[in-house]
Amino acid sequence: MPDTTRNAVQAYFRQQAELGMPGYIFGSDVLSGIQSGAAVPGTRPASLPGQPAGDSYEAKRRALVELYRATENCHNCPLDDTRTKYVFGAGNAEANLMIIGEAPGEDEDRQGVPFVGAAGQLLTKMLAAIDLDRRKDVFITNILKCRPPGNRNPSDAEAEACAGILARQIEIIAPAALLLLGRVAAHRLLGRTESLAKLRGEKLDYKGIPVVITYHPAALLRNPQWKRPAYEDLQRLQAMLKEP
Ligand code: URA
Repeated sequence: MPDTTRNAVQAYFRQQAELGMPGYIFGSDVLSGIQSGAAVPGTRPASLPGQPAGDSYEAKRRALVELYRATENCHNCPLDDTRTKYVFGAGNAEANLMIIGEAPGEDEDRQGVPFVGAAGQLLTKMLAAIDLDRRKDVFITNILKCRPPGNRNPSDAEAEACAGILARQIEIIAPAALLLLGRVAAHRLLGRTESLAKLRGEKLDYKGIPVVITYHPAALLRNPQWKRPAYEDLQRLQAMLKEP
């Protein structure tokens, strides 16, 4: 493995550990597998209870590692020139809930981890409000894996270049539900163009996976009056996740 790749992977582990996500996807066992080129062994972290052991977890984790390795140096759109870090996503490879935002912002671009800035801190609290622990219950990613300069909206070409990575992440994790944060995520993933207000009221799915759409946490920071409807969306999501 080239030094630059090893450094990037090691930085990623440090960030995951700082966020309280020790080894949930890229554990130290996986790092040794990557470095040696050997098969990724994988052991479930004992410190995070509540996930039944099984082949499915290891298979998903391994598939995510492979996808990460295959895409971390992506040059499929011009954002490779301006990004600091590729922001693949973070969380539990076997999560019941996958959360999809728009694109990395400045903090995420610097750290290589999604939703670590002010919006991310609000997202962590929103999840806690429905009894979800960001460190073990969810997998979080974005429509774009690299930051658009100045946090502008993703262009069609950028979203198309990233679409295959996101589709494969969803296919691997196969969550019970998807939470889409904001209009851009909803439009890009579902191919719809209506207002967020209209889409929030609809029963939606992505390839058969139930979808809940809510306000982006950055929008909630600017418009606190939307927190109540956002909480109602989260309660619908919570009820959905409890369905057998
Ligand atoms: N906003 C997003 O949509 N994604 C992030 O990762 C951070 C902020």
